[in-house]
Amino acid sequence: MTTPIDPAVVKRDFPLLTKAEMHGRPIVYLDSASSSQKPQSVLDAMDELYEHTYANVHRGVYELGAETTERYEAARRKAARFVKAPSEREIVFTKNVTEAINLVAYSWGRANLAEGDVVVLTEIEHHANIVPWLMLREERGIELRWIPMAGDYTLDVSSLDELLDGAKLLAVTAMSNVLGTLTPVRQLTDAAHAAGALCLVDAAQYVPHFPTDVTELGADFLGFTGHKMLGPSGIGVLWARAELLEAMPAFLGGGEMIRDVRKDGWTPNEIPWKFEAGTPPIAEAIGLGAAIDYLEGLGMDAVRAHERELTAYAIATLTERFGDQLTIHGPAAPDARGGVLSLALRDVHPHDISQVLDQHGVCVRAGHHCAKVLMKVLGVGATARASLYVYNDEADVDALADALADTADFFSL
Ligand code: ALA
Repeated sequence: MTTPIDPAVVKRDFPLLTKAEMHGRPIVYLDSASSSQKPQSVLDAMDELYEHTYANVHRGVYELGAETTERYEAARRKAARFVKAPSEREIVFTKNVTEAINLVAYSWGRANLAEGDVVVLTEIEHHANIVPWLMLREERGIELRWIPMAGDYTLDVSSLDELLDGAKLLAVTAMSNVLGTLTPVRQLTDAAHAAGALCLVDAAQYVPHFPTDVTELGADFLGFTGHKMLGPSGIGVLWARAELLEAMPAFLGGGEMIRDVRKDGWTPNEIPWKFEAGTPPIAEAIGLGAAIDYLEGLGMDAVRAHERELTAYAIATLTERFGDQLTIHGPAAPDARGGVLSLALRDVHPHDISQVLDQHGVCVRAGHHCAKVLMKVLGVGATARASLYVYNDEADVDALADALADTADFFSL
């Protein structure tokens, strides 16, 4: 049995949340789906590296270089453990999930997809899991098919088998960054495999909030990113089954990704280094490792339980206080979603909402959230999105509700 999260205790680990202010008010940070704050232990791990140990990795044989390499590779082992990857050789460090998906599109996609080949996406994807495939459509003439969103903000999988018929890849988010919708990943990966397709999972919004097991999910490729899970920006992970990575051609050339270079050719390194060209984000990987330690200390079951409870509180509070003046674009049931609340307050523009909230010290993201296909399906140009994490509590949700009430007054609804 894991210990429940006490957000007041957790918050004390985050210097920015306890020390910084916005417009003279304490910060109510409700934008973790965009990027999370960082605990002291992550800041310390990166500072300590730069102050005492730093050198390049996989190059110098002197002590500093060897020690930094060991720490960098230890971060890879932690990332593998965190998503229960069968081997750390399957963990490729990238800049973010966008780069992870682009790596698959450039390397696997260009080796395996030709004109007329089918890639299946969903209408609720982030641009990071749409644009690389649109680029391949322009370059190769591949066909894109779309799993539609249902009226209750879930995926409509009623035509899944037809959509997957003849497909080579299904690329799907595990959790929508706009709606909070959890997709039925195992059902989708099973269906993809039954159709002879591979399945790529965009887990940018999932891995930070749920216990994750890549084998249980049945994924072939899965991407996640450090900055949404208490780690630094500039470090992400592409996990892929070893045999896929081994068969895939290298993506970027130079530095760590080679074994041998001659005037007439080159030989690639082993995986995962085959995909890590140039000096990698060393301190960032080590910071990600510290973030993983921190999340494991809380326990990912406890993280999910806390966010589920707080999301239920937020939906109940906002519904009770605003009734039909407020729309929450996302599934109503807390079990069907994560802690992302995309809000529409009557006809107030989301940017106006976020500007009034800013004066209250409340941080939310307003805009299309890099999901313009979904915005069109929803029939809106933008939403104001509040998102929850381990350091948020009911007082943060109440502050959001109070600030929204002021917004409603200001715009005289
Ligand atoms: N993908 C991030 C978001 O949803 C930036 O806000």
